[in-house]
Amino acid sequence: MATVDLAVRNARILDGTGAAIIEGDVEITAGRISSVGRPSGAAATVEIDAGAMVLTPGFIDVHTHDDGALLRHPGLEFKVSQGCTSLVIGNCGFSAAPALIGATDHTKLLGTTANWTDLAGYAAAVQAARPACNAMALVGHNTIRHLVVGLERREPTPAELDQMRSHVRAAMAQGACGLSTGLIYEPGRYSSTAEIIALAREAAEAGGLYTTHLRNEGDRLLEAVEEALRIGREAGLPVQISHHKAAGRQNWGKVAASLALMDRANSEGLDVMADVYPYTAGSGPMAQYFNLDRLDPALAEVIRFASCPARRELEGRLCVDVAGEWGVVPVEVIRQVLSAPRGTETICIQFLIDEADIETNLRHPLMMVGSDGIPDLRGQPHPRLFGTFPRVLGRYVRERGVLALGEAVRRMTSLSCDRFGLVDRGRVVEGGWADLVLLDETTVIDRATYDDPKQESFGIGLVTINGVVAYRDGVHQPVRAGRMLRHGRS
Ligand code: ZN
Ligand code: CU
Repeated sequence: MATVDLAVRNARILDGTGAAIIEGDVEITAGRISSVGRPSGAAATVEIDAGAMVLTPGFIDVHTHDDGALLRHPGLEFKVSQGCTSLVIGNCGFSAAPALIGATDHTKLLGTTANWTDLAGYAAAVQAARPACNAMALVGHNTIRHLVVGLERREPTPAELDQMRSHVRAAMAQGACGLSTGLIYEPGRYSSTAEIIALAREAAEAGGLYTTHLRNEGDRLLEAVEEALRIGREAGLPVQISHHKAAGRQNWGKVAASLALMDRANSEGLDVMADVYPYTAGSGPMAQYFNLDRLDPALAEVIRFASCPARRELEGRLCVDVAGEWGVVPVEVIRQVLSAPRGTETICIQFLIDEADIETNLRHPLMMVGSDGIPDLRGQPHPRLFGTFPRVLGRYVRERGVLALGEAVRRMTSLSCDRFGLVDRGRVVEGGWADLVLLDETTVIDRATYDDPKQESFGIGLVTINGVVAYRDGVHQPVRAGRMLRHGRS
């Protein structure tokens, strides 16, 4: 009789497809699921009784900035403790591959500098670091443009555009799942739609997708969605709208119109989906949101400092509170922080999103979950880094009934895997890779808050990654069996 490495007995299984719960055992052999339902009869090296918990596929965090964390924090405790087993990296146009030059806002956001020159080199570095989670890479437009054109505000020359295209082509050949943009950021914001289309065509050629942090998420949200849809149509590839939101009180509610635009595009034959994080604040490099020549007073009012190497004592504090203490207006605090040495490395949190819009987003059947967490553990990061997935399951599924558990799990697992080309993952099915989670749906909840953001979640009992126990009863295992994944390959 074949040997079984690990068995989870008497489980209530949500298989990730949205199907109803079935009861049975799941057995794992050599990293893969070897049986589901009736036990094979073989004894397993490790036997785990599921108790009252639900067994699901491991969650896919489709929107991360963990390119550097895979190397610097390979235990990835903040992800594993949420039940995340695979991470999509390289989002918002910022990817560690093909390469990073100098110390810029990009390298700060990603928390790494590069000693590789392509995705294969980066992937080798990740493998050597033995991360806990699997990772799938997007190649980032900001990264590529920075390499080829620098931070100049101009069109690329035809030769430069060719060079940028060849970077995309190479990354796709080395396993990337698509092209990401961050069109509010420098230097992505200097790009024309035509430039993005030209690059997206290279991703399309290789069967990849286009993910985008839209050019505008506020007053011009709908125009920005139209641009993304046009890129999808003209380049001929699926479109993923990242962290879908309507920023700024005057825009609250607009996500409904934006989702309607996506629905219409889908009905016309384009393939558009989106992801969301379950919080009313965003977070990112502060220097990118403010122009020192005309600082935005309304934005300064809603800022909280996450990471601030220039003034560590401000981390975790609201800008308005600091302003009160200093006896100045909030923009003056922003000015002083940004002008200080290392001030441009500040990561801020900005409260700009409507709670009702989060629910509208989560109700949409094509809405995935992506944390957008920024893994700077030295500061006081946005709580989404530690809490996103349990928060959806606890707050939005159990407490508020916005979506059903099986549907939430489907959109954290099979839908995400199909979308980003993670093959043989995201379903509890025989032959699939054994990335699994046991969770208590009656208690699962995030514990990370803005005041105390580095708190692991509650109610995740077990996480296996590639058949190996990564987390059990609140304890991280030092095995770290994650892998760098290649688009469309098992
Ligand atoms: Zn973004
Ligand atoms: Cu992002």
